[in-house]
Amino acid sequence: MKISIEDAIQKLNDGQVVAIPTETVYGLGAIATNASAVSKIFQIKNRPSNNPLICHIDNIDNLSQFVHIEDEHRDFFQFWPGPLTILFKKKDIIPSIVTAGSDLCAFRIPDHIIFSEILKKLKKPIAAPSANPSGKLSPVNAEMIIEYFGNTIDVVDGGDCNIGLESTVIQVLSKKTIKILRHGILTKEFFSSYNINVIEDNHILPVEIENQKGLLSPGLLPKHYAPKKPLVLLESKLIHYFYNTKNPLETLLEILKNHSVDPPTLDINNLKNRSIGFLIYGPINSFNNIINLSYDSNLREISKNLFHSLHKMEKTFDIIISFKVENRDIGVAINDRLSRGAEWKVF
Ligand code: TXA
Ligand code: MG
Repeated sequence: MKISIEDAIQKLNDGQVVAIPTETVYGLGAIATNASAVSKIFQIKNRPSNNPLICHIDNIDNLSQFVHIEDEHRDFFQFWPGPLTILFKKKDIIPSIVTAGSDLCAFRIPDHIIFSEILKKLKKPIAAPSANPSGKLSPVNAEMIIEYFGNTIDVVDGGDCNIGLESTVIQVLSKKTIKILRHGILTKEFFSSYNINVIEDNHILPVEIENQKGLLSPGLLPKHYAPKKPLVLLESKLIHYFYNTKNPLETLLEILKNHSVDPPTLDINNLKNRSIGFLIYGPINSFNNIINLSYDSNLREISKNLFHSLHKMEKTFDIIISFKVENRDIGVAINDRLSRGAEWKVF
């Protein structure tokens, strides 16, 4: 059900969970210092208990109550409010359920008028993961949440999220060096323009923190953000194969065969005669069943439309074919989400 800001504050104070808009995606929030309220988030999302939550505040002055701020963190506060999440060593006031037992706690100041107003009036931090059942597409409007949870979750409707991709999660290693744990619209290129060095982590994450159970950033699990229908991710130039085909499924199977990709989990015969949708970008009109994420191939526009379009497609088609974007700047985050949602990949 859609509720007002005042009702949301009251429910949060009562230890309940409500969905709240941010500039990135909608969050499923509870008061971060209330362990039993936070535990409801894990239940509702069916979230593994080893996946920690991000805490949200509205003012940097409040941060030191909850975490230890080191000198090297301070330069990064210039990017707040905004789509940046920073890890800190936590203080005891943050219950360990929030951080999944880790000593580190993620914080961010969101840039959204509704979320800020709630935080200001509440005067408490809000722990909030994306407001989707675990592993599913992050919601970027109130309707997606209602479709996921029906009337069991109350949501403050803030319209469409401006950014549409989850925040960039970083660990600050020194004043000028960070590690990106989850890609977002604050990119390596963006940080480089501030002379901040991003350590590339070419390992397939998740990384395990030394001496600690749990995953450093389970948002980096290989399978995540998956639509309900199988998603195929192809190298962008492969789109040409589909321009004149009468039978896209056959074309797809041919591509997979030529690239020696074994469809791992899908029963091909079950897909015969099923409808195929194309998630494309660029100035293309030449075939049917498409959603165009951005006619100009604008990466910001593609990000904004990505989850919403995938959500529309999972309702309309039996199989979704998507194409990698250029792998630079925000394109890295877009490819990351597509890749983690995809059942088959060719590139
Ligand atoms: O944009 C966003 O970040 C949204 C809005 C609601 O703020 N939130 C969001 O939360 O995307 P969630 O839970 O879906 O993703 C949080 C990510 C996960 O990859 C999680 O593993 C990582 O942040 N994370 C949170 N706390 C962490 C910690 N203490 N150590 C390492 N990774 C952490
Ligand atoms: Mg999430």
